Amino acid sequence: MLFPEYRPRRLRQSKAFRRMIRETRLSVDDLILPLFAVSGKNIKQEIPSMPGQYRFSVDNLVRTAQAAYEMGIPAVMVFGVPDTKDPLGTQAYAKNGIVQKAVRELKNRIPDLAVITDVCLCQYTDHGHCGIVEKGVIDNDASLDLLARTALSHAQAGADMVAPSDMMDGRVAEIREALDENSLSHIPIMSYAVKYCSAYYGPFREAADSAPQFGDRRTYQMDPANALEAIREASMDAEEGADILMVKPALPYLDIICRVREESDLPVAAYNVSGEFAMIKAAAQMGWIDGQKVMMETLTGIRRAGADMILTYFAMEAAELLNS
Ligand code: PBG
Ligand code: ZN
Repeated sequence: MLFPEYRPRRLRQSKAFRRMIRETRLSVDDLILPLFAVSGKNIKQEIPSMPGQYRFSVDNLVRTAQAAYEMGIPAVMVFGVPDTKDPLGTQAYAKNGIVQKAVRELKNRIPDLAVITDVCLCQYTDHGHCGIVEKGVIDNDASLDLLARTALSHAQAGADMVAPSDMMDGRVAEIREALDENSLSHIPIMSYAVKYCSAYYGPFREAADSAPQFGDRRTYQMDPANALEAIREASMDAEEGADILMVKPALPYLDIICRVREESDLPVAAYNVSGEFAMIKAAAQMGWIDGQKVMMETLTGIRRAGADMILTYFAMEAAELLNS
């Protein structure tokens, strides 16, 4: 059917028609809010490269999580910024580590809010790598036990779901086994299955103080040029027992979200990362773009690509618009 018989604009002429034929819907249900926890009381430090995002002490973190919950956001993702670091990242799996404390308090105060924890070592190691380092190289297999201990300690503190972001081979299976052996077989794993080695993590590393002190993450995070490898990573994690597959970052990898969505029958999450957030905020502050509209277009685009859920620093701002 060709013009003049077919006129696509017919179905665009009214708001009602546009609503009727809309293919993708963004809902508050799709949003997960990342939060950064630090020790202390009544702390709310703004992250300079992430306007409106803070490092919170647990009391304030719970307050923000409560506000998010009241807006209908179903889940938060907790990141810890510990007071001390060491070669083995011991604060990552300490019973009274910052994430463990935050989780206990969140579950105590807001039991119906789903609490997901980021499982990694980079914030906790003095070298800033996501695994342990032996003679200057990241020791994959030696890192697995510490990652599993970290995930287990989060779940024992009450986390509803754990999300390993380290990109070591075999960690999903190791974490699944540790949870299962400790009567935590009901705790799902959201795997950062397809995580690229990305400069878009810059603001996050400032927020979490997690930049590598030597080298970079290229020996474990994926090469941005690779797509088939993403499918291998995703299917491997699915076989190891992942319950949700994440693609990260989101915007430069919408094709990957789409492919993972098509290849797998597991729920797919996308992480709209710190650099993606910072770019929109910066341009909006300059008056160069309409920040709210670009935010909604971006989140809709990530959903359209195939993400079932989106981790985003925009969660509360977007929820406010969606609720109004
Ligand atoms: C830690 C981790 C990172 C992010 C989430 N977990 C940074 C990294 O791998 O260096 C990035 C999140 C963001 O940029 O918003 N492994
Ligand atoms: Zn890491």
